[in-house]
Order: sequence, then C-alpha cells, then structure tokens
Amino acid sequence: MPGFELVGAEERAALNDIFDHSGGVLFAHGFDAFRKGRFRVREFEDAFAKWHHAPRAAACSSGTSAQYVAMKAMGIQPGDEVITQSFTFVATIEAILACGATPVVLDINDTYNLDPSLIEQHITPKTKMIVPVHMLGNPAEMDQINAIAKAHDLLVLEDACEALGASLNGTATGLLGDAGIFSLDFGKTITCGEGGMIISRNEDLIRDSFQFIDHGHECRTDVPRGLDTARFYGFNYRMSEMQGAVGLAQLEKLSTIVDANRRNKATIKSILRASDKITFRRITDEAGELADTIIFNFETKKQAEKMVRLLGENKLGTKNIPDANNWHFAPRWGHIWTTVKKYKRSYKRAWKASEQLMDRSVALPIMVKWDNEFCEQYGEKVLKILGKI
Ligand SMILES: Cc1ncc(COP(=O)(O)O)c(C=O)c1O
Repeated sequence: MPGFELVGAEERAALNDIFDHSGGVLFAHGFDAFRKGRFRVREFEDAFAKWHHAPRAAACSSGTSAQYVAMKAMGIQPGDEVITQSFTFVATIEAILACGATPVVLDINDTYNLDPSLIEQHITPKTKMIVPVHMLGNPAEMDQINAIAKAHDLLVLEDACEALGASLNGTATGLLGDAGIFSLDFGKTITCGEGGMIISRNEDLIRDSFQFIDHGHECRTDVPRGLDTARFYGFNYRMSEMQGAVGLAQLEKLSTIVDANRRNKATIKSILRASDKITFRRITDEAGELADTIIFNFETKKQAEKMVRLLGENKLGTKNIPDANNWHFAPRWGHIWTTVKKYKRSYKRAWKASEQLMDRSVALPIMVKWDNEFCEQYGEKVLKILGKI
C-alpha cells in the first residue's frame, strides 16, 4: 500500500498553494472571503468519487471514523448484530462496538477474506449488516455476500481500507455493496497522513455521512456557516484542507501506483510459481486485485516460521502476516474481547479455521518503486529461500 513512497514535490506544492493562493485557510468550510473559491476537501471528494464512478463521496478524518460514520448513516443501533471476519484491522471491530452493536466475527477462507458459506448460519433476528473486508487488496466474494444480504434484507458495508484501487469484475471496491469505506493513512494505496472516504451509489447515505462528519451541518449555501442548520447531531470527523490538498495530489498518482503494483506482482509471482512448497492465496479477480501484497501458505506452521526466519536473515521483510497479526487477527485481541460478552470466554478458540490458515501463512510486500530488474532479483532471492524450507 505504497502511497507514502510517492509523497514528494507535488504534495509539497499542493500544501504551499493553500498559503500562496488561498490565504492559508486550513479549514474545509467557510472563510469564503479568504479562500479565493478553493475548497480542497470538497474537490478531493469530487475527484475521488469521479475516479470510482460514484455519484458522491464524503471525506473524513480516518478509515476508522469513515466506518463509524457510514454505520451511523446506515442506521446501525445499539443491540444490532454486525457480521464481519477474523482477519481484519482492529478498527473494524472498534467501529461496530462504538455503535453499541455486537460484532459477529466469522472465519476466513482461502481468499483470506470472509467465508460466505458461514454467514447464513450466523444470521439472527438482530443481524443488520455484513462488513466484508477486502484484506490486503483482494476483493471479497461479493456476489455470494450480496446474494445472502439480499435474501435476508441485510445491509452491506465494504471495508475497502486496504483495497483502494481494486475492483471486482469491473466494479470498484466500495461500490460493490450498499456503501464502502477507505483509509488514507500512511500505509495505504494513497495517503494524506490520516484520512478516510465513504462512497456509495446512495446519495442520501453520503449526504447524511457528510453532515454527521460535521456536527450535522447541512452546509447551506444561502446562509453563512454560523447560521447553518442541522437535521440531526453528529460529531467532528472532518478532514482538513491540508489533507484535502495532499489527497488531491496523491489521487493523481493512484492509477500509476496500481499499475506498478500489478506489474511488479506479476513478475515476482511468476518466479515464485516454480516452488512446489507454497499455495498462493485465492485471488477473486486477478485483473482487479490491488496487488500490493503476495500471500502464500505452507503445509505446516513450522515451515512458515522457518520462512519468516530466513527472510529476516536475508534482510527481507513480511507484510502484516505474521509481523502485524496482533493488530489484524481476532484471536490476538484479548484487550477487546474481554469487554465483549459474546467472546469474553471463547475468543482464544473461536476462529480455529482462520488460525489453521494464518499460522501457515506468509505475506510479502510489493513496492511501487521497484523496477523490473529489482523484482526479478527479489523473486529469485525468495525462491532460493523457499528451496531451503
Ligand atoms: C481493514 C482496515 N480497516 C480499517 C482501517 C482503519 O483505517 P485508519 O487507520 O485510517 O483509521 C484500516 C487501517 O489500517 C484497515 O486496514
């Protein structure tokens, strides 16, 4: 997820432009006399929506707040149940809990995303929403998930925080369900340091999100901001003009980033295919995958552990699996589950199938700045290590 690799002159110029041409207005709304007509956060929202062929987008302070805001806008209430997956970032669960809802966390399958075959048996009268997470760039099995949601009248909110730039059968992630959320933190496809985005085909949902992000402000154009009105109260999850400016500059690079990911991944994967020791993650759409990570698994946990040790000895890192599992894998979250009745006693053994897979898995990063020669050398190095397993 390498937007940070390409933070440079364009982002610096975009920031300076706020001072040179917009009176240094750092706030997304109001101050009309000073800003010379530039509303960078709103421009970023429009450009982000356009890139995705979505009617509208709502920018906010983070991917975490994007999920919380979208869930509020979609009517999630205390006592509701929300189905999601064991392999995700902790934020997915935190946002569900912040709504007062109960997370129902299911195992992943060989896509390393939500296993759709487990959903129906976990639906209860309290179930309101499914949150599939497109982990590490591979779109979830949305056809199956949407069909189940439709049959049971459930909402689908895609967590596309790790899949900005990906698509499934020609449709961008984020537009495959009822709404989608993205993260723009420093590890994501594009970044503005911190930030989030919500998209949907449902313009009322985006309008409500936009207003919730800003204390309920309707942003009426016929009155000054101080006389603006609200239909409900919200909170402050606003994005600043500095983030908007950097986000706009980064968005210009999104297609280049995704193309480089896919090219580099194809080169490296074609070399690693020579190994008979590993099974690659099942990719739901080879052409649409974000392709910023390669995940594979071994037959045994011991082999995966040896692989990680040898990668380290060769000064090669892994990406999230296993190095950041503490933050991305449900059985590791005692600090959360001890506060949640449903999982308080069971969390250590609740996701056996996921654990079975994760224990045997390794994920490698793909970087944008790697050229073809580097990718070939990298692939050969990893293949050589695989030969020692
Ligand atoms: C799957 C997933 N969901 C949500 C988030 C939260 O995004 P943010 O860091 O912008 O709050 C992240 C960020 O790491 C993520 O990977």
